[in-house]
This record gives sequence, structure tokens and C-alpha cells, in this order.
Amino acid sequence: MAGLPFADIVTHRFGRRDALKAALATSALAVLPSPLRAADVRAGAASPSFEFGEISHGVDETHHVAPGHDAAILLRWGDPVLPGAPAFDPMRQTAAAQEMQFGYNCDYIGFIPISADRALLCVNHEYTIPQLMFPGLMKSSGDGVTLDPSAYTPEMAQIELAAHGVSVIELRRDGAGWATVADSRFNRRVSCRSTPIAISGPAAGHDRMKTGADPAGRMVTGTMNNCAGGVTPWGTYLTGEENFDQYFRGVLPEGHRETENHFNYGIGAGGFSRFSLAQKRFDVSHEPNEPNRFGWIVEIDPQNPLSTPRKRTALGRFKHEGAETVINPDGRIVVYSGDDETFQYVYKFVTKGRYDPRNRAANVDLLDDGTLYAARFDADGSLTWLPLIFGHGPLTAENGFASQADVVIEARKAATLMGATPMDRPEDVQPHPSNGRVYVMLTNNTRRQAGEIDAANPRAVNTFGHIVELVAPDGDHAATTFRWEILLRCGSPSVGTVGATYNPVTSANGWFGSPDNCAIDADGRLWVATDQGAAWGQTGTADGLYAIETDGALRATSRMFFRVPVGAELCGPCFTPDGRALFLSIQHPAADGTRDYAPFGRDSSFENPATRWPDFQPDMPPRPSVVLVTRHDGGRIG
Ligand code: FEO
Ligand code: CA
Ligand code: CA
Ligand code: CA
Repeated sequence: MAGLPFADIVTHRFGRRDALKAALATSALAVLPSPLRAADVRAGAASPSFEFGEISHGVDETHHVAPGHDAAILLRWGDPVLPGAPAFDPMRQTAAAQEMQFGYNCDYIGFIPISADRALLCVNHEYTIPQLMFPGLMKSSGDGVTLDPSAYTPEMAQIELAAHGVSVIELRRDGAGWATVADSRFNRRVSCRSTPIAISGPAAGHDRMKTGADPAGRMVTGTMNNCAGGVTPWGTYLTGEENFDQYFRGVLPEGHRETENHFNYGIGAGGFSRFSLAQKRFDVSHEPNEPNRFGWIVEIDPQNPLSTPRKRTALGRFKHEGAETVINPDGRIVVYSGDDETFQYVYKFVTKGRYDPRNRAANVDLLDDGTLYAARFDADGSLTWLPLIFGHGPLTAENGFASQADVVIEARKAATLMGATPMDRPEDVQPHPSNGRVYVMLTNNTRRQAGEIDAANPRAVNTFGHIVELVAPDGDHAATTFRWEILLRCGSPSVGTVGATYNPVTSANGWFGSPDNCAIDADGRLWVATDQGAAWGQTGTADGLYAIETDGALRATSRMFFRVPVGAELCGPCFTPDGRALFLSIQHPAADGTRDYAPFGRDSSFENPATRWPDFQPDMPPRPSVVLVTRHDGGRIG
């Protein structure tokens, strides 16, 4: 997500002149192998591993997929999930209905097979956009159309909390392909409004986790800002709590113990949290420990719909983008995670115990015990994983750490003290399942100044981001020293297109900006989704999914496979194990940068959105949705 607090969502304006300046400054520094090598692809200098014909850059009101493929709408915001859920009626929304329906702003997707033709699709719902969800929230003012706070109600806040979290939906495959099962006993909604979630690991029961509603510090209501995630080898679902700071407002008493902690996570903005209209815990002056109960990786067992999800605190508290796992050759599980904020870190967690493929019950608490590390990237191409262990190095009482609970609650501070490398917004961190490589999406960082560049973050005002490839020695993901190199620097192939508004004429459509989520397909190939936010004018295209070559002469070339409608972001690319189906989350259609979309030229509202994708009905607002991509001939995608 673009990461704007409520007040800013409606007042935010994309500063075109500043962005143009930044983009021009960047282009002079950029070394851009991807588009230049695209010429080699056409010349047949080497064989690409992808067969599809790329689609063109551009922006319009609908989605586009590469020739030879179909893209069908599978699940939309408001579609029934639980048996008995009411049909979606945008004019008569209630929190109770929303907690039975597919939530808003779908993000990460996990596909968990339970038999050859049955699977559980788990989908995150990251955040909510009230002015696109509810009628009557926008008013005209001198600055155009803005949100009218007096029209916002506590019931809207309840609906928004209900629209967060996770949906689990059973899928079945027949001759027509994968389809949802309406009455499955596996179908489930986990929300931020009411779902009890247990706290496990080092922070469970600690004083800093206790609140008025939970004096034991062991049970939280809900999960929020569920961005990316992961699927474990034992078939559970991991969901990352990312921008949890945005939900809290209020001021701590002078000298409060959590002041530095709140500051380090961006909590402490004054003003008003609309969520505190529904639940008072979102006001930190009322409940100073509540923010310590978010920012974790949550594990859900979708195969047991009555199970209590667990916040696995051993994996640390930060703005988790995701949590992708790999089975290490020695059987330990390694979980990679990025902290998505400028100048934050890349992390991994290595379990103490080993995965047992023959005994599922023995694996269920593996994520409670192990070692959390943060990454230091050195200029010689080596990467050192710095252990975040209480009592180790500076992680002592002298620096405010009295236990491992303090270390995981303040993982950012611990990583800083250990000397981790501040990165250009780490998003997805994706281990390849078999070749020992790990792909780190660094989405962008326009705050980095010339004096702050380093080998792993080599561009000041990094408008377009880059992708770093890590190499685990002999495929040992538990090793404490890796190698790394930059796979590609994202951005425009020519100065002429930088700063173009939309629909530029470009020589190739493979280049992109702001890598975010990624996935490895059944053939071991890398796919990257983009999230440019309101800044898509700098590439001239809506967000999309790109196929990236990682080996051979064509390494670091890319081509565009899918494009989202105006104002949307592409999240959660997820391939079935046979590679014949691909699920995509189309998040926040009509939301971002619609002022710069000339046919529309203003901010979207419920009544007047830049697109009504995917229904295109005059009485239906745009709906974030999961799309199912297949190939006409039934073959593997791409
Ligand atoms: Fe929610 Fe980092 O994207
Ligand atoms: Ca993002
Ligand atoms: Ca993301
Ligand atoms: Ca991923």
C-alpha cells in the first residue's frame, strides 16, 4: 500500500514537479541492464525461458493479460465467504455482514492443496479506503473534493475493522478449472474486529504485552494491515502485519516507558484515529501497550477452521511485508522477511527444531523457537546475518533490553544496534525453493541522499527501486555469511520517457519501477509485481506483473505479463504447484493517482470513481478482487 494515514489519504496530492526532478536526477545515475538487453531478446541472442508475448505499458480502466491467457474474476470484495453470508449490497453494509464476506484490498495469496483437486486459498486483506467503500463521505471544498469527517460514523469504523484480516476459501477443480466452494466447512474469516489471536514465543505474557482487555498479555483481538505472507511446509498460512502504526493515535504521558519504542515505529502522531471510534484500544493514551501487540507474523492453520491463530513473536516485531519460508538442507526452516519502510532492514529467522514431513503435529510450534537475524550488506559482496539475541553484543540492559521479549518487541532498535544495513524499503524476500538464491525486492527510497548511498543501495533518490539477489553458501540458508549482488536496477530505459505522464511511447515494455511482491513459478522462474502508488506517472504505466530472467545471457531482462486497472496495485502473485493457474490480487482499483489519469483527472470517490472495475455497473463501486489466470491451451503460465 502507499502507506498514508487516513487524513493524508484524502488530502494527498502527487507533487508532479518534485517527482519529475527526482526522476531526472535518478536517470543520470541509473545503469539499466533490463531494457537494454531487451533488444537482445528480440535479436535472438539467447533463448528466453518465457514464451508469452509481452503486453504494452499504459493506463486504462481495466486489466490486461498476455496473449494466449485468460484472466477471470474469482473473488471480489463483499463476495460471500462463510456459509449463509448475505450477498454484497454496497448501500446496506454492516460489520456483521462484512465479517462473513471477502474483505477489502486483497493482498498476499497462499494456495494450500488438501487433495489433488481441492485446495484452500488464503488471502490477506491489507487495508481499507473509506471514501471508496462508503457513500456520502466526500465534500467539495476550495481544494477540490475532500473527505468530510462529520459524515464518518462508528459503524463505518466497525465495517473497516471487519474488512481487514484474512479470508480462507476452499477451491475445487473440475473440467472447467478451479472454482470456489460456497458452503465449505473450511471457509473462514479472520478480522481485526473480533477474531481472538494467541500470542506465543518470547513476548507472550510479558508486561509490555498486557492491556486492560488482556491482563495476561496472551490474547489479542485481531490482525491488521496484512500485507504479504507465506505458506509453511506443513500447510499453515503466515500473514505479515505491516503498517500497524497507522491505526493508532493519541499521546503518551511525559516520560512513558514506550515513548522511544513508539517513535521507532512511527506511532505517536497526534490527532484522531477513526478506528478508536469503534474500539478505544487504538488510542494509545488509553492503552499504551496495544501497539506492541501488532507488527508480528501471524500463523493460521486453515486446515483446522476452529484453530486459534497465533502471533509468532520469535520472528520479531516490525512492519513485516511477508514471511516466505524454505526448508534448509538440514531440515531447519528459514523464514525471510522485509521491514517495509525507508532505511529499514532485511531479516531471517532460523528455527531451532527440524521439520518432520511425516509428523505434522511435531511442526506446529517450530516458529516459537529459533534465532532472528538482521542483514548487513558489505561492499565486498558478502552479507553477514547478525543475530538478535538478548545478552549478545549491545543487546543488554545498558541499552534497555532486559530479556528476549524486549529484543523481539523492539527488533528495529536491536538490528540498528547490531549494525544492520538500512535498505531502500525491503518488500518481499523470496527464497528459491531449490537453488539457494533469495530475491529481495527493494521498492524505492526517494529519501536517500547522495551522502547515504552504499553498495547495496547505490542510488540517491531511488525512485524506481532495485532487486538484490542473495546466495546462500551451498544452499545453506541457515549460514551466517551469504554472498549478494544486485540483479537489476529498475527504471526507465531512456531519459526521454522519464517523467512522462501516461501512455508513453517506449521501445520495450519490460522495464518497471517499484518491485513489491514476487513469486517463483513451477519452473523456478521469477515473477515480480509492482506497487508504484500514486507515482505511476513516472513509468507511464499502471502496475503489473513482470517475468524476470535470472540466468544466462538474458539475466535481468524482463517483460510485462499483466496490467491492472487505473489506481490499482498488483499483489500476491501465487502459482499452483503444477504451474497451470496463477492467482493475482488486484488491490485498490481507482485509488492511487487518479488525478494524473487524464480521462478522469480528479480523486476518486464512492460516487465517482476512476473505474468501476471489475463489475462496471453504475450502482457498484470498484472492488478489489482476486483474478485467476490460466492458459487457453491449459499449459503452464508464461
Ligand atoms: Fe503493503 Fe510493503 O506493501
Ligand atoms: Ca508496497
Ligand atoms: Ca506489498
Ligand atoms: Ca512472495
